[in-house]
Amino acid sequence: MEQKYIEDHMQGTATALKEKTGNIKKLFLESYGCQMNFSDSEIVASILSENGYNTTQFPEEADLILLNTCSIREKAEQTVRQRLSGFKQLKKNKPSLTVGVLGCMAERLKEKFLEQEKLVDLVVGPDAYRSLPQLLEETEAGRDAINVILSKEETYADISPVRLSGNGVSAFVTITRGCDNMCSFCVVPFTRGRERSRDPHSILEECRELAAAGYREITLLGQNVDSYLWYGGGPKKDFAKASEMQQATAIHFHSLLGMVAEAVPEVWIRFATSNPQDMRIEVFEMMARHENICNYVHLPVQSGSNRILTLMNRQHTREEYIQLLKYAKTLVPDIAFSQDMIAGFSTETEADHQDTLSLMREIEYDYGYMFAYSIRPGTPAHKKLEDDVPFDDKKRRLAEIIALQGELSRIRMQTYVGKKHKVLIDGESKKNKNQWRGRTTQNAVCVFDKFDDTRPGDFVEVFVKDCTQGTLLGEFVRHLY
Ligand code: SAH
Ligand code: F3S
Repeated sequence: MEQKYIEDHMQGTATALKEKTGNIKKLFLESYGCQMNFSDSEIVASILSENGYNTTQFPEEADLILLNTCSIREKAEQTVRQRLSGFKQLKKNKPSLTVGVLGCMAERLKEKFLEQEKLVDLVVGPDAYRSLPQLLEETEAGRDAINVILSKEETYADISPVRLSGNGVSAFVTITRGCDNMCSFCVVPFTRGRERSRDPHSILEECRELAAAGYREITLLGQNVDSYLWYGGGPKKDFAKASEMQQATAIHFHSLLGMVAEAVPEVWIRFATSNPQDMRIEVFEMMARHENICNYVHLPVQSGSNRILTLMNRQHTREEYIQLLKYAKTLVPDIAFSQDMIAGFSTETEADHQDTLSLMREIEYDYGYMFAYSIRPGTPAHKKLEDDVPFDDKKRRLAEIIALQGELSRIRMQTYVGKKHKVLIDGESKKNKNQWRGRTTQNAVCVFDKFDDTRPGDFVEVFVKDCTQGTLLGEFVRHLY
């Protein structure tokens, strides 16, 4: 993963790697926000490819435009609104064009979206994608359509995602949906609903299919993967009483991780995202046991101050967090960590901010994703706490956090120099067409001159000669497999 010290995160237009013959309608599908949205878009593309649509990368030729939206910060929502207004002219030129919003913003704003944004015809929440074909019948008949019902069961387990605009090397596999944690700043529990885990059999099947199709890296996805839980015989709802559930064999996240690692031994396994309060030591033990579980954990902490962690409703202290990561290092000595930090949460003082900086120095994160606090309507923090840190202080503290992470990344990158690393090639270097780009088990980006018949999807050994803050500069040593 490349360093991203930016307010907003990913955005991308998705086109299918393979088109379905016979489909004549065109879908322009653009995703914003977290990896989960990108993964959900693959489910949406799959449902619509069964209903006459192939994807296009040109909105001008689309019959249906869908934006899979993000609500995590105010700015993410602004980006979507701007994008929507950009489609006004298209809609004028082609009245039959349907424009829809999916995902978190659809769920948060519901009918308001249809009222506020006159050019939106369709609003669909994250648990309602199966109803898209029926909703499109409504829009085709000239009526607005909406389904924002959240589900306690929907995991789309049986839908085989259409892999979109990827590199054919790395794929996402969703294992949990929703989140029950209620971190006070976070809108996700409201937009994605209750937490539920996907049937492990369907997860393993999807991983095997990906391996057979040549994929070499799978990221297991969820808002909070560490609380993955599946009970022996069947879905949780099959058990009449809690006591019956307890008797059944439970599959926790670490067991699932081990099962996936064994099912596809030649594929690298990663996972995201974790919350430290749900992370178990067994996950690191599993990582130590299996070479193909990558030695990298994204472990958002948000703040280094215990007082702020309590206000954020994070269920761990700074000390417990440090202890967990130090113990993980004893089990997996070359493990790399990355963080998410929020600068300027309600009531944050200069002393709290210093605690964040000192925690970062203590952990020495490889990467970071850092944000200024953005108050979200309806969240516990919005109801109970004032957004009282002045904008300039937030901005300065964020800049200090970003600058420190830059220094730490440089220090961490230096530790990889002068050594050989196993690298999975995932594409061409953006700066130099004569070089491959890949990543190490620690998720460090590495570039090196192309050699012989090496290609994306190959595991190679690379000697790292030098580095920049975000990239290892290497030399090809040998082809592995
Ligand atoms: N488990 C989730 C995390 C949710 S959001 C996942 O799958 O990624 C990702 C990050 O956005 C959080 O870790 C947090 O650092 C940041 N974030 C969430 N709500 C925010 C808010 N209201 N203001 C600023 N940053 C926020
Ligand atoms: Fe949000 Fe906390 Fe869940 S950050 S996604 S409520 S773990």
